[in-house]
Amino acid sequence: MSKSLRRVVAVAVSAGLIGVLIGANCIPGASDQPLVGDAMRGAALFAEGDGIGPACQSCHCPDASGGCRLSAPNIQGRPYDLIDARTRDPDVAHPGGKFTFTDQDIADIAAFLAVLADESSP
Ligand code: HEC
Repeated sequence: MSKSLRRVVAVAVSAGLIGVLIGANCIPGASDQPLVGDAMRGAALFAEGDGIGPACQSCHCPDASGGCRLSAPNIQGRPYDLIDARTRDPDVAHPGGKFTFTDQDIADIAAFLAVLADESSP
């Protein structure tokens, strides 16, 4: 296990998300998602960003429920296209800035946010 992955596991455990993450592989991908996302990898990207820009969680909070900085909104369950536009399209405004993510990275973040949305629904 890589060092950064181990850190993510620690974060996930402390956030009470580990059971959800283990279940993530059973969740069917969103219909408009071109790649199969890996929620565990998405959790790492969400927690650490792309290593250049700020971490998503610093504004959107570790569970993506929003409100940790700059009134960033709840983004649990947000789909691939929206994440793609906000984090990569230079023509779309995003206070969190732009990131050097690959398509797979976006799919992984979408998978992680889908897991969080599932977790919060009653
Ligand atoms: C510096 C703070 C900050 C960081 C870091 C940040 N964001 Fe944001 N993000 C915001 C704010 C504030 C908004 C709301 C902007 C608006 O309403 O125009 C937003 C909006 C979004 C939206 C659109 C939500 C919606 O429903 O319209 C998505 C998706 C998103 N961010 C994803 C991310 C991801 C993924 C990352 C990490 C790669 C990230 N953000 C990092 C502040 C941040």
